Amino acid sequence: MKSITVELADRSYPIVFCPGLVTGTDGSEQTVLAAAMGDSIFIVSNETVAGLYLAPLKKLLGDRKVDVYIMPDGEAYKTLDQIDAIIGKLLAAGHTRETTLIALGGGVVGDVTGFAAAVYQRGVAVIQVPTTLLSQVDSSVGGKTAVNHPLGKNMIGAFHQPKMVVMDVETLKTLSPREFSAGLAEIVKHAALADWAYFQWLQAHQDSIMSRDSACLMTMIEWSCRIKAEIVASDETEQGRRALLNLGHTFGHAIETLSGYGLVLHGEAVAMGLMMAADYSVRSKTLFESAPAQLARLLTAFSLPTVLPKGLIKADFLQAMGRDKKATAEGLRLVILRDLGRADLTSQIDEAALEQTLAFFLNNP
Ligand SMILES: NC(=O)c1ccc[n+]([C@@H]2O[C@H](COP(=O)([O-])OP(=O)(O)OC[C@H]3O[C@@H](n4cnc5c(N)ncnc54)[C@H](O)[C@@H]3O)[C@@H](O)[C@H]2O)c1
Repeated sequence: MKSITVELADRSYPIVFCPGLVTGTDGSEQTVLAAAMGDSIFIVSNETVAGLYLAPLKKLLGDRKVDVYIMPDGEAYKTLDQIDAIIGKLLAAGHTRETTLIALGGGVVGDVTGFAAAVYQRGVAVIQVPTTLLSQVDSSVGGKTAVNHPLGKNMIGAFHQPKMVVMDVETLKTLSPREFSAGLAEIVKHAALADWAYFQWLQAHQDSIMSRDSACLMTMIEWSCRIKAEIVASDETEQGRRALLNLGHTFGHAIETLSGYGLVLHGEAVAMGLMMAADYSVRSKTLFESAPAQLARLLTAFSLPTVLPKGLIKADFLQAMGRDKKATAEGLRLVILRDLGRADLTSQIDEAALEQTLAFFLNNP
């Protein structure tokens, strides 16, 4: 069994790769789950994922006390109301501090369950079982948990590292093409910010990736998780370097906000945001000129958008960028590219270059 450790001293944890474990086609690695939990389990999933994978997961848990909470599906339910409902059910069923929560689902279920685990009786263990590509390479690793507030996304949250992350690549076979592509945007981001060899590997394997070849997906997810785990280990609570993972996100956040959440998926906004970050980097002379075209080719091969929806207004866009919680109080902070495979964080904004990037993307016919 393949495994990566997220090195965080006494909060270190493994990301284990067990294809077929959760989908019920290969239970040979079920002892890995047993090692990470006690006798009392509380699973949180949503109505879509539970219909697919709850039964095989429960089968793995044997005689343990298992309670289940099924959320409605969607970002709209990433709320304090869901936390309240989960905690009510935990209390009513007599769950103690020894209970382990299991998040079975995508990033929404992972974020909600992680936050519930962070606050239930001042913190209980959580195991992440991510079932979307985005959650496998991004949200399940790193310990950021949150729910949304009507005035802002992810505004109520905590850092709470999981005890284990269980990757079953086979769960990705049932994911819609659009959600699969959305996850690929974060993967292209990892390659662009940290590893040129990974970028080249993605270029060379784009067809096998799009046909969801299991071995290829395993290699890719492991590669991305290694990049994310290394960055998280170096800066767990985002005091500095972890902000590199926000490459494309300041622009992307503005696109998501102005297009209306739900119309553009997060990963799609990140893809467009990556293009804008690359364009800005060329205009501010930190990146070579042909890089955006290479980036666009890879994103397009992954069925991701590289141009913005029509009708976005510059003043609104700038405001939405400035409001991003990843921007500092003094002004904007941007992650720029210095190469394909190398990024940097800067608060010294080249205003003229930013104007040109906005004009180029917002006036795109
Ligand atoms: N905590 C973090 O560090 C972090 C990082 C990035 C994103 N996020 C959060 O993650 C969320 C987005 O996550 P997401 O993209 O996984 O979205 P999601 O959780 O909404 O899942 C997308 C859709 O796929 C369905 N689904 C999940 N697994 C499936 C499967 N195996 N087969 C078929 N359908 C399946 C879900 O029910 C949902 O309809 C956002 O709320 C975002 O803020 C958190």
